Amino acid sequence: MPTQVTVSAPVNIAVVKYWGKRDTSLLLPTNSSLSLTLSQDDLRSTTTVRIDALFNKDRLWLNGKEEDATANKRMVRVVQELRAVRKELQNKDSSLEALDEQKMHICSENNFPTAAGLASSASGFAALTFGIAHALGIADKISTADLSRLARQGSGSACRSLFGGFVAWNMGINPDGSDSVAEQVADEKHWPDMEALVLVASDARKDTPSTAGMQLTIETSDLLRERIANVVPQRMSDIKTAIVNKNYDAFAEHTMRDSNQFHAVCLDTFPPITYLNDVSRAVIHLVTAYNNLFTEKSDNAASSKKGYRAAYTFDAGPNAVLYVRREHVPEILAIVNATFPAPADADKQTYLGRAAQYVGQEDK
Ligand code: ADP
Ligand code: DP6
Ligand code: CO
Repeated sequence: MPTQVTVSAPVNIAVVKYWGKRDTSLLLPTNSSLSLTLSQDDLRSTTTVRIDALFNKDRLWLNGKEEDATANKRMVRVVQELRAVRKELQNKDSSLEALDEQKMHICSENNFPTAAGLASSASGFAALTFGIAHALGIADKISTADLSRLARQGSGSACRSLFGGFVAWNMGINPDGSDSVAEQVADEKHWPDMEALVLVASDARKDTPSTAGMQLTIETSDLLRERIANVVPQRMSDIKTAIVNKNYDAFAEHTMRDSNQFHAVCLDTFPPITYLNDVSRAVIHLVTAYNNLFTEKSDNAASSKKGYRAAYTFDAGPNAVLYVRREHVPEILAIVNATFPAPADADKQTYLGRAAQYVGQEDK
């Protein structure tokens, strides 16, 4: 009997960025990272997996176009690993019929721009891993941590999309990657008025894919070494405390500083990588000017009181994500839309400023 399942997975947008691998085959990072998983109702990948004895090879369609499934090494690896887990389980569990020779067709769609710095590889590989596990009938026999470990081998950031809420990916130290796992720092109900506004400045595919970009950074950037050794460990600890205490000011400052440093590291790569464009920089200046309205000035800069209203972060692309509190969303959207009026023919889904993504969920 053929089996077919459809699943979806949300994107996650990091506030402490992963950028750099210490092991490119197991996808082990050079630093820990932390992200918020957005609501599945908003940016998501939807993936259908069909396993059928009639199929003669594994095939993949992405956004309606067939890709070369064998050339996609990461996908091949995730599929192989899941088949191996299935084999192990079917040896132990006689209720699982043998599926060893059966091929699969995978069809996935993103409801947001692909490869544009909005974490499509994260939701994409999370959905792929989860979908295959379901189609193989083993999703309920594998822990979420193990699914996350498998998804990591498709795309590092994908390991965080298996969990909701605030998620840390601990870099780990074991050479086999067994301790390089994602874990929830706080669930999606923890900070219910936290929202993400996704501002799409461009839906074009980026010139430098994340994998290639971070590899060049590892090879050439001195600043990355400073970041890994002296910045991220303390920031991970500080931002976790800010999240646990719902301290928005501390959360916002770390988020913006980390995004700035990540893009500084990209510029320190040689030749340099520039993911931000003029619109991205205008968003940074707008958010800074807006936040300054709520900062109490004092003669002593160190004692001036911060009252952040918005925190920007940019992944490997020009598109901004603003983490803001719900009460400020209407005002911030009004300012953004007044500053960046959408062209008349703009696609409603993707022009700057209109997509409000709920992260926190109010108690029902
Ligand atoms: P992004 O910033 O969008 O994560 P990346 O360069 O990290 O960009 O990854 C983009 C790549 O991720 C795509 O070229 C494709 O190989 C893979 N990808 C994106 N969406 C999916 C999906 N839904 N299913 C499988 N793979 C996907
Ligand atoms: C800037 O997870 O896309 O979004 O592991 O090579 O697939 P690969 O890279 P990817 O890198 C994400 C980089 C980032 C920051 C982050 O999500 O932590
Ligand atoms: Co990615």
